[in-house]
Amino acid sequence: MTLRWGIIGPGRIARKLAADFAVVDGCELVAVGSRDPARAKAFVAGLPPALAAPVRSYGGYADLLADPAVDVVYIATPHRQHAAIAVAALNAGRAVLVEKAFTCTVAGAQTVIDTAKAHRLFAMEAMWTRFVPLVVRLRELLADGVIGEVRAVHADLGVIREFDPADRLWDPAQGGGALLDLGVYPVAFAQMILGEPGSVEVHGNLGRTGVDEDVALLLGYDSGAWAVLDCSLRLPLAGAASVIGSAGRIDVLPRFHHPVDMVLHRVGHDPTPIRLPMLAGGYAHQLIEVRDRIAAGHLESTVMPLRDTLSVLRTLETALQRLGLHLTEDADAMR
Ligand SMILES: NC(=O)c1ccc[n+]([C@@H]2O[C@H](COP(=O)([O-])OP(=O)(O)OC[C@H]3O[C@@H](n4cnc5c(N)ncnc54)[C@H](OP(=O)(O)O)[C@@H]3O)[C@@H](O)[C@H]2O)c1
Repeated sequence: MTLRWGIIGPGRIARKLAADFAVVDGCELVAVGSRDPARAKAFVAGLPPALAAPVRSYGGYADLLADPAVDVVYIATPHRQHAAIAVAALNAGRAVLVEKAFTCTVAGAQTVIDTAKAHRLFAMEAMWTRFVPLVVRLRELLADGVIGEVRAVHADLGVIREFDPADRLWDPAQGGGALLDLGVYPVAFAQMILGEPGSVEVHGNLGRTGVDEDVALLLGYDSGAWAVLDCSLRLPLAGAASVIGSAGRIDVLPRFHHPVDMVLHRVGHDPTPIRLPMLAGGYAHQLIEVRDRIAAGHLESTVMPLRDTLSVLRTLETALQRLGLHLTEDADAMR
């Protein structure tokens, strides 16, 4: 079976993910939808020649969703547009892979999930980090107890982004801010290991456009475990992650959201470096997950299940609200 994909929102990440179709068997990019016909055409013209099938371009998201030869839609618009487009795609009978952050609000995510369940269609957040080989191995090591009982997670992600009030990162109308764009990675990483926290403490700074430009989080757990996480649009944070247990520590080397190297430190042993490369740009692994889960008749991933998407969003929404930010979904995203 070949899974036929459409892309909605032909921007920066869509271009990167599209290139990875070249290395994934059983997945074909067949259509691209933009709000503007010329942008859709330009995106298709710039695709790598290695992509097997001819790719159709649509100058309207609804036209792409009406294409009966599209099985699954990858939604790569800014976050505020994810919910309405995902619901429209599901209502049109298409499975969805939705970029992170899945939505801007817990309520928006719940609506997408309810729609997927009502139609019995597959849905997943494109939290690609969870599928790369190094993170798969990390989960195995933790499950084997190699560092004992995990007590703490440290993770950060920050970059100095050039200030541009029109860019989605700085524009509140596009769900801008550090937490949904970058902070979602450390939060999803910590919660992959420790689960949903019992408490969330936040310190953050809002910038010139009113979005969160840097945020530090302390997640607390009833067990006594904790996670210290931070993200920034204006600081060159290392992009490192560490998982600390009673018998050792695993350092995932920068940048941990697309890692190839980690070092296992066990108390009383020499450090063990572990290297596991990613396929192509690293996005291929989540395409493989979608392909395999849909082929198996599953409605979601066990690696990035929808309950985890909701749980991560609960943490992010709590933090945003504590900073005085009350985001909304763009109900007109299909206009
Ligand atoms: N997985 C990753 O590594 C990764 C990396 C970066 C970003 N992301 C996520 O992917 C999403 C897109 O990020 P990006 O950096 O690719 O964004 P981008 O370059 O700004 O592209 C987003 C695209 O969405 C479309 N769009 C639809 N409604 C829009 C609106 N109201 N305002 C602006 N654009 C709109 C635009 O295409 P048309 O107008 O042509 O339709 C635009 O090209 C975000 O949710 C982000 O968090 C993921």
